[in-house]
Amino acid sequence: MTPEQFRQYGHQLIDLIADYRQTVAERPVMAQVQPGYLKAALPDAAPLQGEPFEAIVQDVERLLMPGLSHWQHPDFYGYFPSNGTLSSVLGDFLSTGLGVLGLSWQSSPALSELEETTLDWLRQLLGLSSQWSGVIQDTASTSTLVALICARERSTDYALVRGGLQAQAKPLIVYVSAHAHSSVDKAALLAGFGRDNIRLIATDEHFAMRPEALREAIAQDLAAGNQPCAVVATTGTTATTALDPLRPIGEIAQAHQLWLHVDSAMAGSAMILPECRWMWDGIELADSVVVNAHKWLGVAFDCSIYYVRDPQHLIRVMSTNPSYLQSAVDGEVKNLRDWGIPLGRRFRALKLWFMLRCEGVEALQQRLRRDLDNARWLAEQVEAAEGWELLAPVQLQTLCIRHRPQGLQEDALDAHTRGWAERLNASGDAYVTPATLQGRWMVRVSVGALPTERGDVERLWARLQAIVAR
Ligand SMILES: Cc1ncc(COP(=O)(O)O)c(C=O)c1O
Repeated sequence: MTPEQFRQYGHQLIDLIADYRQTVAERPVMAQVQPGYLKAALPDAAPLQGEPFEAIVQDVERLLMPGLSHWQHPDFYGYFPSNGTLSSVLGDFLSTGLGVLGLSWQSSPALSELEETTLDWLRQLLGLSSQWSGVIQDTASTSTLVALICARERSTDYALVRGGLQAQAKPLIVYVSAHAHSSVDKAALLAGFGRDNIRLIATDEHFAMRPEALREAIAQDLAAGNQPCAVVATTGTTATTALDPLRPIGEIAQAHQLWLHVDSAMAGSAMILPECRWMWDGIELADSVVVNAHKWLGVAFDCSIYYVRDPQHLIRVMSTNPSYLQSAVDGEVKNLRDWGIPLGRRFRALKLWFMLRCEGVEALQQRLRRDLDNARWLAEQVEAAEGWELLAPVQLQTLCIRHRPQGLQEDALDAHTRGWAERLNASGDAYVTPATLQGRWMVRVSVGALPTERGDVERLWARLQAIVAR
């Protein structure tokens, strides 16, 4: 494709995206296709000769669109709000179009320096002190893996330059809430801790980690001759947006010199609202924190922000310095390859920079407040309605709800819950996420897709009441 063809087709593609966003509400929210539908429609091998661009665009509409669940649909209440702002889409587009790569500062100085600057802007917006510095990772899963590898190395006085974890006399222990995201478990396993050394700490009636249970678990491990290493606390758990109390957890972690990593993948976005910052009171006691800017904040995926208090420690664990990547300015600059796992880095800061500049902080805050308000309104309706229940406090924009017809218990109630959630999703009218909480099915309603306004939430409430009666 020549630059001239790119200009022409690029305009077409931008039109396609703009039209898609303007008309997405006319599509069924959840994909209405069966497994294998696309593979059956596509050729078995790549074309030997290039095809007209128009043919490809036609197949996007004909073949791909029916197989998409539409996250930017006003009736999307699944998983979490994500990936929305068109300003960041343009930044992402530019990043790919420029085709530059960050291997070292010198390989694209603006790439590193824009990342430093935008992450410092964001740090201030989140109310974090100047003790923190950030780097963009792909996902929270990677950020948490990096955190646990760093925790492991700090606890073992950098065992990786000797015999590694295999030469450690005592097992290292990680403490996580029983409601932590599966990525935390995965990170602990990949960082080599081993399933036997992950402690699931009990939670309170609001699904938040109980500090006294953490203290007891650490004492038991010390008595058993194990080595406590790290705690992962969550601000905004996936199922219920529960808030682990960071201050008492941080004090316990500090008393035992444990690494405290805070998973704020979802709720971190809310910290741009000063009125929400109580939710992570004690954050300054942590060693690392992850905030997924590609979730509720609205940056195009992927843009997971990892902040650390001691970057020198991170660099010591992650750094590589082959001769072909060295330059005369290395002593003066940040080489972000030493701040994470991959060597090659995309120009991800562009999408955050575009979004912050085009939208402005006040508009972002206003949108999040709108969503909090809409979630509170829906919670009030659910609480007031006969036969409906809220299963967890609505701290942010996620509701955990159930409809309980009189006399229905346990398995029959589960079947009812899954049944209406599936009917609603299959109708294409709205998309919610059924999930289990304490072993029983409920439905998560995650408010906050970019175009979702109060009228949409009112329509959802009417649909919920109608669907359970069918
Ligand atoms: C609390 C929490 N942590 C971690 C993750 C994983 O995020 P990622 O897909 O960026 O790895 C999620 C995603 O749903 C989450 O809600």
